[in-house]
This record gives sequence, structure tokens and C-alpha cells, in this order.
Amino acid sequence: MALNRRLIVVSNRVPPSESFEEQGRGEASAGGLVTAVRAAMEQSGGLWFGWSGRTSRRRVTMGPTVRVFGRLQHATMDLSGDEVSQFYLGYSNRTLWPLLHSFPSHVDIRRQTYLSYRRVNRRFASSLLPLLSRDDLIWVQDFHLFHLGYELRRMGWRGKVGFFLHVPFPPAEIFNILPWSHDTLQALLEYDLVGLHNERYMHNLIDSLDIELGGESHDDTYYYEGSSTRLGVFPIGIDPGTFRPKKTHRSNDSQGDCNGHGTRSLVDELSLASTPDLQLILGVDRLDYTKGIPNRLRIFERMLERYSNLRNKLIYIQISSPSRTRVPEYVQEKELVERLVGQINGRFSEAGWVPIRYLYRSYAQSDLAGFYRDADVCLVTPLRDGMNLVAKEFVAAQGEDSPGVLVLSRFAGAASTMRDAVIVNPYDIDGTAEATYQALRMPLEERRRRNRKLLSVVEKHSSRNWSQTFTATLQAL
Ligand code: F6P
Repeated sequence: MALNRRLIVVSNRVPPSESFEEQGRGEASAGGLVTAVRAAMEQSGGLWFGWSGRTSRRRVTMGPTVRVFGRLQHATMDLSGDEVSQFYLGYSNRTLWPLLHSFPSHVDIRRQTYLSYRRVNRRFASSLLPLLSRDDLIWVQDFHLFHLGYELRRMGWRGKVGFFLHVPFPPAEIFNILPWSHDTLQALLEYDLVGLHNERYMHNLIDSLDIELGGESHDDTYYYEGSSTRLGVFPIGIDPGTFRPKKTHRSNDSQGDCNGHGTRSLVDELSLASTPDLQLILGVDRLDYTKGIPNRLRIFERMLERYSNLRNKLIYIQISSPSRTRVPEYVQEKELVERLVGQINGRFSEAGWVPIRYLYRSYAQSDLAGFYRDADVCLVTPLRDGMNLVAKEFVAAQGEDSPGVLVLSRFAGAASTMRDAVIVNPYDIDGTAEATYQALRMPLEERRRRNRKLLSVVEKHSSRNWSQTFTATLQAL
């Protein structure tokens, strides 16, 4: 169904390059949210409202700054220093993030940061309201803005508002660690439509709603105190065309039709062309403790211990993009990763062979597309992840001739649909080391068969499909 209303997207992050850099730190948001929403907005046009990424020194009183890009408008507002530290770094990233990812030991509970979160949600609502027309369709994104719909309703908004959660929804016994779980669930029910990535998260949410509020659910709708909210599963995806192979990549590949422009190659980037029969394992993540990078390093170490034939023949490249660098748990995770890389390289390196290449930086999508094609195996092994779009990007980037193998954690939302990946449990170091070893040796026919099936999943659940289905469902309610 075509959209016949203006689409308003509200998210903490908005895309213009200068605005999604954390000030002075060059820390671009590498999350899937911006990528998927950008694809949706480019298609539908409309208004995208969010934080400018800037920290204002003074108390912020001004309205949003509006910029026009063809059919698309961006409206952004600044946050004050206090708001950044309490709403974003504090409640969003130190309370909600670990809670929703089922890391209860990392959850930091402070009334002050919760109150700041509520104030910022209110300020988002009051700044957005004057920009709205009666028939607009509002689509709120992610856990930073759980209460935005509630605040809009309190300010008199009667139009449609939907909400999509980009991260997992945890089991009820984890969610109710939050002292404000009841209010948060009530706020969620102010939305007309709430979307999640998979059935498991939806089941967890309904469980929490039943236990804490005691409403009733029938046919994907939750009824509570005279109102109803539709709940739905909308698996987020990518635009596979962006990653589709355009040229052969390895510069020493005799069949290559390298046209000299476009994607970069890992082999060239790391000057690996001179090592014959080299196999590459690749990991690409934001540097986040949910991504399980230390476990992945231990898995690789176990492989080198158990399969000595891999030595000198295998390199593991870990690209970690800087993320939330002012949050203490992220600082600790970075130190742990660096220490493990040093230890493993110190233990196994030989003249002419360093087993781990660790790149602490972000790359453009076009560079990553080439890197994915160079990898024999992509290790996507989060300890918990809402969806994980790297898994999808890797599959879309493979050529038919000799596709690489996706090794995927059962704790990534992507595992519920990408069943032809090699599914692993990253807590099981021995088991995952063995599965990855088998992946490196997988026969060509099996690699092709698996990649074909995975690609059809990636194409079916594209970013376009995700946004069209969500907005059409919201419009039709
Ligand atoms: O995908 C989940 C998410 O929290 C997005 O909302 C966010 O844009 C992304 O991860 C990156 O995080 P941040 O915006 O904190 O850099």
C-alpha cells in the first residue's frame, strides 16, 4: 500500500554527516538504525527529527533547526551537556542498553538519569509538535524515546504514532529490574503500533505486559484500560544492492576483472597479497560489550592452539568502530580487547605472520563491501544483538563463484531467519572454534548452496520491505 500521508521519523540519531559525530571525537554512529531509516526516508520523503549530535554549552531553549534536502526535511535540536551525560550516556546507554540486552550486572540505576530521560522525551515532543500537521504518520525509533508517544498524547496529539524497537526486548524477569518498568510499559501502550525484530522479543514484551499491567492480548493486539495497541514483527534489513559484488577483489586473483574504481580490498589494504593460500576471518562491529569481541578473540586463540596447521595460513581481521567512548563499560571493553589482541599476537606471531590485525576505526559502506568479499569466514558472534546487519551485509556482498561462510551467533536476532548460516553459541569457545574451523574447510558446493538461501532471506527482508510493511500497517490501523 502506498503511503498517502507525510511520514515523520523521530530518532535519537539523524544522518547528516556532521551531525552524527559526537562532538570533537569523530565518533560516527555505525548503527543499523540510521542506515535502514535513511533508505526508507529516501523513498518516501518526509521529515526526520532528532538530536543534532551537538552539545550546547548553555541551557537549550531554541526550537529545532530545519534543513531541506529535496523531498526530505531534517529537523534537529541540540542537547545540553547535562542532557548528553544523563539522558544519552546515562539512562539510555548505561541503564536501558544493558537491561534490554540482558546484561543485568551492567545496569546502572539512577533516579536522576531517569528524570533527565523523561525531560528530554518531553522536550522532543514539544519541539516536534509545532512542525506536525493533522494527517501526519509519526514513526518513533528505538529505546531512547520510549515515552515520546505518551508525551505527544499528553500535549494533545490524536494522530497515529508507531514505535519500533531496534534492540532485543528481554525476558520479564530481566525487564522488571527496572524500577520504572511499569511506567515504561504503560508509555509503550500509548503507541498505535509497536514493532519488534522477531517473535521471541514480541513474546517477551507480551509476557512483561501481562505480568506488570494485566491487560489482554488477542490477534497481535494488546488491550489495556479501554485502549488497544497493535504489536507486530518487522525484521529490519539492508539494501542488498549496495553490497552486491561489482568486481573481483583480490589483486592477485587471475580471474579478476578489476575495473580500478569502487571497492577497496583487505588484501591490498593490509599488504597480504604476497602470502599464498592465506585464509581470512573477518569481524566487523561497533566496539560494544554486547558484540562479544573478547569471546571471539578467545575462539580464534583456541583455533590456533588446536589446529596448528592454521598457523601462518590464517589471519583474523577485527574492525571495531569507536562507540560510546565516554561510557565506562565501553572504555573497559576496549582495554580488554586490546590486551587480548596483544597477548594472542605475542603468543603466536612468527617472522612474516601476525595472526590478528586489529583496526580500531570506522569504514565507509563501500569499503566494507570489498572487505566482506575478501573474507573466507565472517564471524558475527554477539552475546546478544537485536538483529545484526553485518550478517546481512556479508551475505549480500558475496560473489557466486566462491562465497565466504557466515558464522552466526544464535543470540543475534538475525539467527531466527538466517538458518543457513553456521549457527554457534559464542559462550562455547571450543564448540565455536571447531565450527569455525569446519567453516574454513567447507566445500564449494555447500558454500554456494548456503549463500543462495541466505541471500534470498536478505532480499526478502530488505530495509525497503521493513519500512513499507511497518508504515503500511500503521496507516491501515
Ligand atoms: O541499533 C541500536 C542503536 O542503539 C541505535 O539506536 C543507534 O543509532 C546505534 O545503536 C548506535 O548507537 P549510538 O547512537 O549510541 O552511537
